[in-house]
Amino acid sequence: IPNCPVIAIDGPTASGKGTVAALVAGRLGYHYLDSGAIYRVLAVAVERAALNPDLPVDLLRIIPMAANLPVQFRDDRILLGGVDVSESIRTEDAGVMASRLAVVPEVRAGLLQRQRDFRQAPGLVADGRDMGSVVFPDSFLKVFLTASAQVRAERRVRQIEGRGQKADFQAIYSDLMARDKRDSERAVAPLRPCEDALVLDCSNMPIDQVVSTILNWAQERI
Ligand code: CDP
Ligand code: CDP
Repeated sequence: IPNCPVIAIDGPTASGKGTVAALVAGRLGYHYLDSGAIYRVLAVAVERAALNPDLPVDLLRIIPMAANLPVQFRDDRILLGGVDVSESIRTEDAGVMASRLAVVPEVRAGLLQRQRDFRQAPGLVADGRDMGSVVFPDSFLKVFLTASAQVRAERRVRQIEGRGQKADFQAIYSDLMARDKRDSERAVAPLRPCEDALVLDCSNMPIDQVVSTILNWAQERI
């Protein structure tokens, strides 16, 4: 186990990575990195600047934005240039824009160091798509957390309705499939379990069981 241990939790959208990673970090007293939030903050910055990543001329402005993104994590709030964007980064639009930006290799490279800066004593739990493969390849435990598309869409619907908003299952299901496809088919850091990852299908597992499974795996290695 390296000096500052990292647990990587990767997987598709709505598999439960964020919820589980934060709980595992809490139990171990480790720091927590929500790497998707960084992609989402960039997405909001790009939307506010009315830039389109499909236009080469706009992409030339987006790439330096990624490398110099003025993002701050303060307590449980996320700030972009000092403005609280904790809520606006969670919209479906921001998620879609994040996944469009995430296919650009220069964008990924620009965000790399910012993610690695989260590695601090006593340890880190990081969730995303490429935590185990690219950002923290020396993680002492790599988990690929997944669940069926049906279950993930149902969980997303419940999550949205829990916030008192209306959710359309069909729309969420097809957005989820489109995002899975874009995330898995891109050339750089595609979404797939790395060789040394333990795959955990949590379609039929309550959250606390997922958390205890991961804690047991961590314990075995410490
Ligand atoms: O929570 P959800 O899985 O819907 O998304 P997220 O983790 O917040 O990430 C939003 C998008 O950013 C994903 O669809 C990915 O395209 C991208 N992303 C990535 O490429 N690599 C990461 N490490 C994290 C997110
Ligand atoms: O971060 P990611 O997009 O992978 O998913 P999340 O936002 O952590 O989880 C999506 C929803 O699924 C949340 O409302 C979790 O509470 C729920 N969930 C669940 O019901 N059972 C699990 N085993 C894992 C997550």
